Amino acid sequence: VRVDRLALLLAPWLGGAPAYAAVATGLRGLALDGRLPVGSRVPSERALAVALGLSRTTVTAAYDVLRGEGYLRSDYGAGSAVALPGARPAGPDDQPGDRPAVLDLSVAALPAPAALVHAVHEATHKLRPMLAGHGLHPLGVPALREAIADHLTGRGLRTTPDQVLVTAGALHGWNLVLTALGRVGSRVLVEQPTYPAVLDAVSAHRLRATPMPVGPAGWDLPVAPGGLVHLTPDGQNPTGFSATALQRRDLVRWATGGTLVVDETFADLTLNGRPVRPLGAFDQHAITLGSMSKAFWAGLRLGWVRAEPDLLRRLTQARGAQDLASPVLEQLVATELLHAAEGVLTERRAGLRASRDALIAALRDALPAWSFVRPHAGMVLWVDLGGLSSTRLAGHALDLGLRLTPGPRFTVDGTADGLLRLPFTLPVAQVPQLVELLKEAGARAGTRAVASRLPSRWTA
Ligand SMILES: Cc1ncc(COP(=O)(O)O)c(C=O)c1O
Repeated sequence: VRVDRLALLLAPWLGGAPAYAAVATGLRGLALDGRLPVGSRVPSERALAVALGLSRTTVTAAYDVLRGEGYLRSDYGAGSAVALPGARPAGPDDQPGDRPAVLDLSVAALPAPAALVHAVHEATHKLRPMLAGHGLHPLGVPALREAIADHLTGRGLRTTPDQVLVTAGALHGWNLVLTALGRVGSRVLVEQPTYPAVLDAVSAHRLRATPMPVGPAGWDLPVAPGGLVHLTPDGQNPTGFSATALQRRDLVRWATGGTLVVDETFADLTLNGRPVRPLGAFDQHAITLGSMSKAFWAGLRLGWVRAEPDLLRRLTQARGAQDLASPVLEQLVATELLHAAEGVLTERRAGLRASRDALIAALRDALPAWSFVRPHAGMVLWVDLGGLSSTRLAGHALDLGLRLTPGPRFTVDGTADGLLRLPFTLPVAQVPQLVELLKEAGARAGTRAVASRLPSRWTA
């Protein structure tokens, strides 16, 4: 790992005291989290000290701590390499394109709904009159912008089509916001834990992710924010938390001075009770990100940003450097799906409720030491493994053909190793097989056995 890259990765930890412990905590977190792959060479103590502006003895003390714990291995004459305590995987890391898994739960998403086939059919007809044009719509195809505006208005967030920018997914929208509004080196408040790519995007823009704890009971609000705040108030990924109206109101009051970016990727998937009004309805300056990926189909690669037209112009300019516009046919398919949303969503929610309840019952039966809060929205359980390491569990699961994303991937600092995100996206009939695999992987993780590969960083 290059010294300048490592210095950047370590930046969020620096400033803690004592300095050697802060550096050690950062390196340990990066190793657990997979951002420093096992086996990668770390810079010399002298080089890292210079890059971090610390004394060499500070970095030496940090490396000594990590060697003692087993997170660094020194080979005489070849420097030091990242390791995991007691584990030396024989093979390389798993990659998303590797041999197919028996079950892939590194992705929290559903197969396409049956209505997609009809939507494609309709969309091909609607495409005809558009073929005479050049097909580039930087803000989105007008029919889709209108359908999204109607969809949001129907959920209680009054929206006009000129407040909608169609993107290649909510994550793309987040990247555009960071490009347009992020100042290099500035802080971005993110929930901890949160969806890993939200964090990766912050680092990729050379901004500093500052964690704001969130649990099933709500946000732990730090002192008043400045700058951007990323939030997922509906079916939070991975905790499943959904904010009440009161919590939304309190949050908006707390956030004056900051810019709320409300990621509504799971907002259409309230499974029990009535959905709460969108957070954007409580704060007219909030930026809302939306997606077709979870409620409809991730393969469409479509989402949106809802913001004031002036800001959308800035985002569209930022987009111009990356891609010009989204594919027309897919946008027409998405339009059809949004018109049919009521039926599609009713089916989606019923399927998720059944899968969630089957998974919960099977886990309680087979793995009683694991605990979790039953989520009322979204599609994931956030499971406390009762003392097991989710990184170890995910490694052993991979050997059994089950892909999982371990807890540290969801945190800024590589913590949460005792927690595992478990999507309840499998059909009820496959739940027993999943729980069998989890049980076997858990049993192996509880021994000194070493898994042959590390889980992939790629996750959705
Ligand atoms: C909070 C959050 N935002 C964004 C995404 C990505 O959404 P999209 O596929 O629309 O880019 C996910 C996917 O899991 C997510 O959980």
